[in-house]
Amino acid sequence: MLQKPKGTYDIYGDKALTYLYFRKIAKALMDKYNAKFIETPIFESSELFHRGVGETTDIVSKETYDFKDRGDRNLTLRPEGTAGIVRCFIENKLYVENLPLKTWYLGPMFRYERPQAGRYREFYQFGVEAFGSNDPMMDAEIIGMACNLFKILGLKGVSVNINTLGDKESRENYRKALLDYFKPYLNDLCEDCQRRYEKNPLRILDCKVDSSNEIMKDAPKILDYLNEESKKHFDKVKEYLDAMNIDYKVNPNIVRGLDYYTHTVFEVQADIKGFGAQSTLAAGGRYDHLVEFIGGPSVPGVGFALGLERLFLALDAEKIDIREVVCPDVYIFSAGENQKTNVLALANDLRMAGFNTEVDYDSKNFKSNFKRADKVMAKYIIIIGEEEVNTKILTVKNNETKEEYKVELDKLIEFLDEKIGDEDED
Ligand code: HAM
Repeated sequence: MLQKPKGTYDIYGDKALTYLYFRKIAKALMDKYNAKFIETPIFESSELFHRGVGETTDIVSKETYDFKDRGDRNLTLRPEGTAGIVRCFIENKLYVENLPLKTWYLGPMFRYERPQAGRYREFYQFGVEAFGSNDPMMDAEIIGMACNLFKILGLKGVSVNINTLGDKESRENYRKALLDYFKPYLNDLCEDCQRRYEKNPLRILDCKVDSSNEIMKDAPKILDYLNEESKKHFDKVKEYLDAMNIDYKVNPNIVRGLDYYTHTVFEVQADIKGFGAQSTLAAGGRYDHLVEFIGGPSVPGVGFALGLERLFLALDAEKIDIREVVCPDVYIFSAGENQKTNVLALANDLRMAGFNTEVDYDSKNFKSNFKRADKVMAKYIIIIGEEEVNTKILTVKNNETKEEYKVELDKLIEFLDEKIGDEDED
């Protein structure tokens, strides 16, 4: 039997209901922030990610799905959403009339990682990218957005780890300090870090292999290398987070696995039973030069993304059920083979009038039809036989109370509106 590729999964049943409900909640919250939905291609030119995410990052150097198409173009399945949104922002000149602009997206991303709980090769990210303001207010608003999403979903103990990478000048000073510090230890670092030392020493701090190495503990901290401007920005972000009652902690070890960040970087956590290291649910930061770097004007940005898989594991662990079960309002079946035309025509009318309607296709007996109506949890049942067609009077049965009503065909929609409308208002 053919099977799905390693590190992928199917979305069906309960998972599909959870996924759809999450989309609904996320959209409703995004509307509250006046954030606009954007969908970008699942594959883009490889160059976009190599430039945007950074050559020295693990994502680009080890995890991208790169391929050539039949026209010999170098393409990559998107490993994250930010670079594509920035490309779309530039290519469609969204900066001309729309700034400041908040955008959001939801879709599959691809990274060739070792699959484990909450970590897949095809995974879904919900993300936000906001453009057009240097003000720390935007950093804080975006962090608040991520926290609010988790709170709305019912997660407890939502808190943020924040750090700053400072502006270009601060980062350059810090880079020099790191080069000086790691120089005598170069041979103690893993091969990747020796390469990172040359290209981007900040990445060494993010290395999974060397993270337990003693020399990491005393490595210089960015907070000691910030210039006044960067310090001010970071202080303001904290002040705004305080104003929104957001629980945060400064963690100087957060450098994040992507190259584009400046100033604020953050990770959002929640208290999840039995989760430990996986309690990070969302991550993001400010990227003041990415738009320019990818070929656009100088427009600053801030954003975050969360993985749906980890979020759903967290909701499961906390026994939070966000499925939205949708059932048919009406189940119609035919008493006999020759009423199928009438069944289908009535179902069509009811659906166009706004009722969820399910039909029987196989003219099974009454018993199996009642059984199926129960299984799909239909609210009302209508049986169409010769008599109903001749008299144009239908028997409509409430499938819960078992009450039966005689309803004229012409008045059916009015009847259902009254009955089902009433229930929906309860
Ligand atoms: P990231 O930290 O690489 O950032 O990913 C964000 C989130 O995506 C992670 O916190 C995690 O929940 C989820 N994630 C990442 N890899 C996997 C995987 N293999 N399986 C399941 N979930 C995963 C970014 O992607 C940035 N684009 C975030 C951002 C947006 N920064 C600014 N704007």
